This record gives sequence, structure tokens and C-alpha cells, in this order.
Amino acid sequence: MKVLVFGASGMLGSRLMPYLAGQGHVAVAASRSSANGIEIDSSRKASTLEAMRTVSPDVVINLVGLTDVERCESHPKQAWQANVQSVENIAHASRVIDAHLVHLSTDQVYDNPTPSVEDAASPGNCYAITKYAGELAALQGGACVLRTNFFGVSQHAHRRSLTDWLLSALTEQRPVQVFDDMYFSPLNMTTLCGFIHQAANFKHTGIFNVGSHGAMSKADFAFAFAQALAMPSGHFNRVSAQDSGLLKAWRPKNMGMDSGLFETTFQIQLPSLIAEIECAAKEYRAQL
Ligand SMILES: NC(=O)c1ccc[n+]([C@@H]2O[C@H](COP(=O)([O-])OP(=O)(O)OC[C@H]3O[C@@H](n4cnc5c(N)ncnc54)[C@H](OP(=O)(O)O)[C@@H]3O)[C@@H](O)[C@H]2O)c1
Repeated sequence: MKVLVFGASGMLGSRLMPYLAGQGHVAVAASRSSANGIEIDSSRKASTLEAMRTVSPDVVINLVGLTDVERCESHPKQAWQANVQSVENIAHASRVIDAHLVHLSTDQVYDNPTPSVEDAASPGNCYAITKYAGELAALQGGACVLRTNFFGVSQHAHRRSLTDWLLSALTEQRPVQVFDDMYFSPLNMTTLCGFIHQAANFKHTGIFNVGSHGAMSKADFAFAFAQALAMPSGHFNRVSAQDSGLLKAWRPKNMGMDSGLFETTFQIQLPSLIAEIECAAKEYRAQL
């Protein structure tokens, strides 16, 4: 397939591009600063359509986003441009050239005491609200929307993942606060790239949660990651997110997802979070 990846220069894009090439696809990168691809601001409608017509991809994968939660809160217009307007333009152009659209969204739209199913979204900050509005725009283009969260080895020069940050704290024995009242069910980026590939291949439409089984608190995640690396973690301090004083914008506490719909639709068994942590630890160890 020829696959056009918007937001290819970001953290997930830097992992997805080589993954797609490794699967034998022609992967074309697009973002405002693509060194080896198309330089485009997808919040501009005409140039987005023009680029799409020029490349003429079979599949479009949209990873564009303003992902900094605090910045979204303080710059809502920028958040709207990246998380909604860009999606409107990409979805419109995908429809015009008849390409299948896979759009990445977030688990931040959830905050429920039990793992959330797809119709239980209740976005509560500017990032989540704009991502939710972006999903609606993507669905207008007949997209496959994947709500997810991820960690693992980042190949991006400046963007560090949660586990990159934890590894540096473990290596330097630096004291850090880890939240024991914030739950999530993320995937290792390698696994997520595989599922995005499946979504590109099978062309199902609608919204799907794509997370691991067995949601954990971010604190338990941090300790499990240290254990998987066999590194001492006595300098990790459990705190409540609110007491940490680190977060200004409101954050959901329970982002755990029920990904049963994805499993039955795509005939895929999703992994457990502990298995994903072990996978990531193996990938970090291979780099040392
Ligand atoms: N990071 C996470 O933990 C996480 C968790 C859940 C879901 N997600 C979702 O996963 C997707 C990828 O996340 P990520 O962490 O890889 O994001 P990221 O590192 O912040 O990258 C975002 C990408 O969007 C591009 N971009 C932003 N505005 C643009 C515009 N107007 N036109 C064209 N390109 C634009 C950026 O490139 P330029 O600045 O060069 O244009 C960059 O390539 C996003 O949709 C995000 O919401 C992320």
C-alpha cells in the first residue's frame, strides 16, 4: 500500500514510519517539519487536499495533534487548529480521493471507575475536548478512530515517552513523584504500530479503544517497569496527582479502557499491560 502519514515527525510517527516501511509499504511522511517528506500545515484546507491528490495514497494515517495538555489549556485556538481543524481537512481530502483514514485519538476522553467502553466518553480538559471533536470530524470521512495511549522507546530527538523519563530517573537514581490515583491501560509503541497497521489493512470504520488488559495506576506502572529492568526504585515516591502540584490543567483519574470491540472486530487478542511493560523493558535493555 501507499500510506501517507500526517504527523510523521512526532513521537509515534518516528516509530510508525520505519515500521510501515519494514512491512513493505510505501510510507510518505507529512508534517510542518518533515525532513524526508512533505512539508505541510494540515490546518490549511487547500494545501492539504493538493498534497493528498499529489501523493494519492491508499491509506492516510493521521497522527497530527497538539498533545501537550497544559499548552492546549492555555492556547485553545492552537489546540483547535491541530486537533480539530487539521482532522476536518484530512478527513475531507481522504473522502475526495477515496483513501481509507486511520485517525489516532486518546484515552484522555474517559474518566470512569471501571474500564470504559467507546460510548462512555466525557472529555474534561481542552486537550480531551478537542480530540473528541476531532474524532467526530474524522468519522465524517468514514475513518477508523483508535483511542489509545502508549509508552516505549522514543526515536524522536526531543520528545521523550513516559518510560524514557522513568528510565532516566532510574539510571540517575533521581527522586520522582509517581501518581497512585491515575489509572491507564497503554500499549508499548511497537505493539501499537502493529495494530495501526491492522487498522490500515482491514479498513473497518468507527471508534475503537486500543489498550492493554489490566489497567494500572501510573505509580504501579513505574514500579513494574523498574522491576522488569531489575533496577532499584526506592527513590520513586507515590503521591496523588492533585497533591503533586505538578499538573495545572484538570486531568481524568480513570483512563482504563475496555478494548473488547477492537478485539472482536479485528479478531486480535490484546496483550496485558504487564506483558507490554516487559516488552518495552526488553527493547530498552537491547539498546544499553
Ligand atoms: N503521546 C502520547 O502519550 C499520546 C497518548 C494518547 C494518544 N496520543 C495521540 O497520538 C497521536 C500522536 O501523538 P505523538 O505523541 O506522536 O504526538 P507529537 O509527538 O506531539 O507529534 C505531533 C505531530 O503533529 C504534527 N503537527 C502538529 N500540528 C500540525 C499541523 N498543523 N500540520 C501538520 N502537522 C502538524 C507535528 O509536527 P510538526 O510540528 O513538525 O508539524 C508532529 O509531527 C496524536 O494524535 C495524539 O493525540 C498520544
